[in-house]
Amino acid sequence: MFEFIDVKYKDVLDLPTLDIEQEKITTLVGPSGSGKTTILRMLNKLISPTQGRIIFNGKDLRQINSVDHRRHVSMLSQSPSIFEGSIRDNLNVGLRFQERELPSDEALNHILEQVKLNKLLEGSATTLSGGEKQRLALGRILLLNSEVYLLDEPSSALDDETEDIIIQMLTERVKKEKKTIVMVTHTKAIADKYSDTIIEISKGRCLSWRGNNERNN
Ligand SMILES: Nc1ncnc2c1ncn2[C@@H]1O[C@H](COP(=O)(O)OP(=O)(O)O)[C@@H](O)[C@H]1O
Ligand SMILES: [Mg+2]
Repeated sequence: MFEFIDVKYKDVLDLPTLDIEQEKITTLVGPSGSGKTTILRMLNKLISPTQGRIIFNGKDLRQINSVDHRRHVSMLSQSPSIFEGSIRDNLNVGLRFQERELPSDEALNHILEQVKLNKLLEGSATTLSGGEKQRLALGRILLLNSEVYLLDEPSSALDDETEDIIIQMLTERVKKEKKTIVMVTHTKAIADKYSDTIIEISKGRCLSWRGNNERNN
């Protein structure tokens, strides 16, 4: 789905080749500062390679309009912004930005249930805890219903048990809907349990790429 060809980004990344497969859960792991976020940002076309190219579904990303691209590929950043207003407002913000129809309360409540956020839609978003805000931001992204989700440490603020529940929900949902996830996580257990492919990044290079047979079998 994504194919890197001789990609460099400044002196941050050097990726002669890297493939990300459609309808798979791909997890990027590696130490802080190794370039994981930079990779996701390139996949979202927030930044472009300073050398080489990235092919998305057979087309050079440079030839694809950034706004159009982000309708297909949405990104949850490492520290998503939750703004003042209700939980409903915060859930709807992405759809509003894309000038799309807003979901019914039933659909919004279903999403809250999926991200295990037992809150009222009218409730204030700013008073939520860090972990709750993270789940709200995840719900917001899921509502976009895009083909590809780029998730930058989506469960970093969650306790182990909640993290497992959330990532399990996420991966099941995405499998069922035949979508694609590229995520970053620091939790090895999560990477091993839920990924189809694990890509290890170190100092801007791909150290290893391995299919997770345990999961595929
Ligand atoms: N726009 C940029 N220009 C130059 N260097 C950057 C830029 N963005 C990030 N970096 C640097 O690239 C390295 C990798 O950053 P990042 O991708 O955020 O790592 P990770 O997500 O793996 O922790 C860091 O050393 C960071 O300071
Ligand atoms: Mg990062």
